[in-house]
Amino acid sequence: MSTISTFLKSYTSRRTQYQLKKALPEGVTLQQVQDIVQQLVKHTPTSFNSQTVRAVILTGALHDKVWQSVTDAIPAEAQKKRPNSIKEEAYGSIIFFDDGAALKKIQEAFPPYADYFPIFASTSNGAAQINTWTLIGELGLGGHLQHYNPLVQEALKGKVPESWNVVAQLAFGVPVGEPSEKEFIDNEVKVLSE
Ligand SMILES: Cc1cc2nc3c(=O)[nH]c(=O)nc-3n(C[C@H](O)[C@H](O)[C@H](O)COP(=O)(O)O)c2cc1C
Repeated sequence: MSTISTFLKSYTSRRTQYQLKKALPEGVTLQQVQDIVQQLVKHTPTSFNSQTVRAVILTGALHDKVWQSVTDAIPAEAQKKRPNSIKEEAYGSIIFFDDGAALKKIQEAFPPYADYFPIFASTSNGAAQINTWTLIGELGLGGHLQHYNPLVQEALKGKVPESWNVVAQLAFGVPVGEPSEKEFIDNEVKVLSE
């Protein structure tokens, strides 16, 4: 298989996998997950090389504590289900942040673009999230992306620098069962040329 087919297969195989087992696949280590996240946080391109993407991997008792506090902070019983399932079933969660200090620095350095930098930071953060989601699939891990941002931010107070703002959570574990059916719209990419 060519490198391009291998890359595309990996990319098109990534799915939202809610049903997880609290484990790593046999032979897979947390160090491998950490290496992937580290490489992607390092090499994801950012506007003017502002390097705004940050991440931590939560696992073990702290993981469960964070998701318990998210669950506790949600008043509606039905809405507790997802964060509680992460606590019960996910081996870990990769928390993605934008570093507000790095963002401020680049905004001050290039005032005409100041309003655009948060959007550019989001673009880079999304790239890091989705590429991480794709690559951990190559380790046999499945996951789903969540946005309990203010609640996770509160639960991580004192554990990460104050300037880091939570952007997304990628819960992961060994996938159990199949992801749901996915429909695609008709969305042809045309080549335009004159
Ligand atoms: C930017 C973004 C935000 C998302 N936010 C959530 C979310 O908050 N909760 C959730 O359960 N899924 C979330 N998802 C998952 C999407 O619903 C899912 O990716 C989409 O339905 C396509 O399915 P697939 O991931 O299986 O390809 C998000 C996905 C993306 C890319």
